[in-house]
Amino acid sequence: MSIFSNDTFSDQVALVTGGGTGIGKEIARSFGRSGAKLVICSRRLEVIEATAKEFEDEGLSCLAVQCDVRKPDEVENVIASTLERYGRLDILVNNAAGNFPAPMAGISYNGFKSVVDIDLLGTYNVSKAAFEAWLKDHGGNVVNITAPFQHVGPTLQAHVAAAKSGVDSLTRSCASEWGPHGIRVNAVAPGGISDTEGLARFDSVSSGKGNASCPLRRVGSKQDIANTVLFLASEAASYVTGQVICVDGGSSVDSMKIALDA
Ligand code: COA
Ligand code: NAP
Repeated sequence: MSIFSNDTFSDQVALVTGGGTGIGKEIARSFGRSGAKLVICSRRLEVIEATAKEFEDEGLSCLAVQCDVRKPDEVENVIASTLERYGRLDILVNNAAGNFPAPMAGISYNGFKSVVDIDLLGTYNVSKAAFEAWLKDHGGNVVNITAPFQHVGPTLQAHVAAAKSGVDSLTRSCASEWGPHGIRVNAVAPGGISDTEGLARFDSVSSGKGNASCPLRRVGSKQDIANTVLFLASEAASYVTGQVICVDGGSSVDSMKIALDA
């Protein structure tokens, strides 16, 4: 359930990378139901077109543009297509990412590079293109989707942790440099989120139950993440920038991980 009204983001345009599936799809849908016009992009055109149609059938306005966030020319085309269709860009959500569980020694040079290229460079590429084409003169909001585990030393996630650490750093640098342009830049760090590709990829190496034993004793939902993203992009957060908010049921603060009964 969303607590935002259907006009919270009216007259605004939101671009969600990787918005055809999973968490990104829920974020896009939530912005749409709160009044925003939508642009979603990813590599598989058939996936984003099917999602855009689902949104349009619901009465939302959505443009799907094929794009690999690793390719600056394709990224610039997404921004240009957004401005051509809607004439503005208010909200950018850098959600596209790649992940697979693998030990450091089991990742090839190209495997490590692929994840860093998508997660970190992709976030940089889209942010820079959006800034230059629109945000620097009009202000707006950027919300990056990161992760909560990179601050320690996660096994099987060296590549993702390195990339998401970079995303956190980029979030703070962009917030500092772009604040004077009226741009707020924040990040959301999801814990294990049910019914997602991200969690499914860990089925073979974990219980597949995400952080059900976290202090709040439940796995997170895609709506939990969307709600926090919408809050950060809304006027309710108008003095918040450069922050990374963990939405993980408290997993990241429970350093002892001892299950106490209620
Ligand atoms: N374990 C180890 N290495 C792996 C791997 C795995 N499970 N999966 C892919 N790789 C390696 C590949 O072998 C390849 O390296 P190589 O060229 O040395 O053989 C490299 O990663 C790139 O793989 P490729 O499939 O060519 O890249 P891609 O750019 O098409 O895809 C990935 C990028 C690998 C991140 C792919 O998993 C993806 O598209 N993910 C998007 C969806 C996703 O990850 N969702 C969860 C988000 S949390
Ligand atoms: P997902 O459904 O696989 O979403 C990833 C999306 O990114 C896909 O739509 C994919 O579409 C797109 N994408 C991947 N590579 C791309 C590229 N090079 N260019 C453009 N788009 C690309 O996974 P998810 O679980 O919802 O994850 C969404 C975000 O949440 C990610 O940033 C992830 O790191 C973060 N996260 C998730 C969890 C979790 O529990 N699920 C936990 C922590 C953080 P295409 O394949 O069509 O390109």
